[in-house]
Amino acid sequence: MTATVIDGKAFAAKVREQVAVHVTTLKDKHGITPGLAVVLVGEDPASQVYVRSKGKMTVEVGMNSYEHKLDADTSEADLLAVVDKLNKDPAVHGILVQLPLPKHLDSDLVINSIDPAKDVDGFHISNVGLLGTGQKSMVPCTPLGSLMMLRDHLGSLSGLNAVVLGRSNIVGKPMAQLLLNDSCTVTIAHSRTKDLADVVRRADIVVAAVGRPQMVPGDWIKPGATVIDVGINRIDAPDLGEGKTRLVGDVDYASCAEVAGAITPVPGGVGPMTIACLLANTVTACCRANG
Ligand code: GUN
Repeated sequence: MTATVIDGKAFAAKVREQVAVHVTTLKDKHGITPGLAVVLVGEDPASQVYVRSKGKMTVEVGMNSYEHKLDADTSEADLLAVVDKLNKDPAVHGILVQLPLPKHLDSDLVINSIDPAKDVDGFHISNVGLLGTGQKSMVPCTPLGSLMMLRDHLGSLSGLNAVVLGRSNIVGKPMAQLLLNDSCTVTIAHSRTKDLADVVRRADIVVAAVGRPQMVPGDWIKPGATVIDVGINRIDAPDLGEGKTRLVGDVDYASCAEVAGAITPVPGGVGPMTIACLLANTVTACCRANG
């Protein structure tokens, strides 16, 4: 079998088009322009790339983008003051504090200082609780984008065996919660899971979010399964020339694509959906704030 490639880039472009339509309506009918504020502390190169890309796409769909770049040695009190100001700013409907934060800052404290109604990442403890109890919440962007692709490809997910590899607060846990809310039978596997290959082989849906390059080989995949690869890892690629690198996911794409029914590529799979969902969450926050 050769897997269908789930084109996250094309799907994300469609989501952004829909967001842009909503933004136009909010502007024309209600005189409101949704605004997204992104706070970046320090100079982590990968974070800088993400933040630039978020800002560009925010503007492209017609929303206001506010960027707050703070020095790596910013104190917790100063960062909390920035968040507080954004919480109170009526032009700001969504707030994202880029993670990871420098080590001297308490990420949980900072994230939980964001107004939950503006928490477009869905990381605030009250949004986590709302999602966990199946109530209306802000839903974390990477799991939301992954779920949208799964639903689009499979239709109903009810009764399917889903294995989520990775138990992070950002991806693994909320992903498992969303799959459970869609009536999947969910297993969260992680670094201590026994007989991991056998656990993954039972899955109709595999979501890999471990941050280990090409960790899942094709012979772990049940024939016909749907594979969502959340990993974005940069590895050396001597075949491309000396000093060259390439991006790969958490699954070994070539061997998994031979067995799976469908698979997301890296790049061009989950990544673009994450930003599209961030924009969609900002419109949702704006609509809720304005009744
Ligand atoms: N760092 C990596 N992914 C994310 C994300 O989805 N949100 C935030 N705030 N930081 C991140």
